[in-house]
Amino acid sequence: LMTLADLSVAQINRSLAHAAHLKKLSQPILKPNATTTKLASNSLQHKSIALLFSKRSTRTRLSAETAASLLGGRALFLGKEDIQLGVNESASDTAKVIGSMCQGIFARVGEHEEIEELARDSPVPVLNALSSLWHPTQIMADLLTLHEHAHLFSGASSSKATTPEGLPALRPLTIAWVGDSSNVLHDMLVTYPRLGHKLRVGTPSNPKYHAPSAVWDKVKEVNCEKGIFWTDDPREAVHGADVVVTDTWISMGQEHEKSQRLKDFNGFQVTEKLCKEGGANPNWKFLHCLPRKEHEVDDEVFHGPRSLVFPEAENRKWTIMAMFE
Ligand code: CP
Ligand code: NVA
Repeated sequence: LMTLADLSVAQINRSLAHAAHLKKLSQPILKPNATTTKLASNSLQHKSIALLFSKRSTRTRLSAETAASLLGGRALFLGKEDIQLGVNESASDTAKVIGSMCQGIFARVGEHEEIEELARDSPVPVLNALSSLWHPTQIMADLLTLHEHAHLFSGASSSKATTPEGLPALRPLTIAWVGDSSNVLHDMLVTYPRLGHKLRVGTPSNPKYHAPSAVWDKVKEVNCEKGIFWTDDPREAVHGADVVVTDTWISMGQEHEKSQRLKDFNGFQVTEKLCKEGGANPNWKFLHCLPRKEHEVDDEVFHGPRSLVFPEAENRKWTIMAMFE
């Protein structure tokens, strides 16, 4: 799984419903006085998933480790300082060796080509835990969070509707992105239009802040182009938005561009004022993959009642767990 473009809408919806199911099932197990610590399925018993991470992580790593343990298996964290990869050994040889001992690889890499190379030579499934181009598991968590909060977007009359898979149904939403064309946005581009949601994207006019051609190729492949409106005006981007989403302006590996980026993204901070002036739905909600800096969203929004960022962070665990299973 390199990007959510690799999954059909039915597969995405089934995984989301399974995540909600696992979340519910796990609650009694997680109580302090629980007598059992494993889910009945125990589907990862005697199995291990290698977490091959060459970049930092809080949420993705925690999610993978705690999810694997709840499923009765193990996640083995292999940071870039720990193993031979990249210094004494190729990605191809590493994939073959890990694949002979583990049943899956969850990999966080720099350039996207690195995970493609792992996947090409791995005898076991490889899931992308973030690459320069994509962050598929993040959007699964965002979707679960939106479904769980569907009542906030619908009139009282339709608030009890469910999807065929049993999740609270979401009405078609307008989802605005304000900021950098990052890996997180790229998976939104290949997913939300297929699920019936409209995407409005605001990035600075410099083409370096636009999605690269490899991403557009996938957008076209999954017929998402028509559901996307792109502008360099953040106010125009949030027009009619039910949900406003952003990410850091300085992704991991771009630290040396910090001062230029802070200049280029001037005016793109998500604030109440920006969303009011742009004509967002007065009831708009806020998502952010985290980690967050104040540059891209101010405290009023981030810590305010619109913010769903902490349920969103927790849902990394349940959605990653569903994808493992
Ligand atoms: N959202 C996310 O991927 O967070 P981490 O980098 O902490 O894993
Ligand atoms: N775009 C960010 C996401 C972090 C979860 C990065 O790649 O650093």
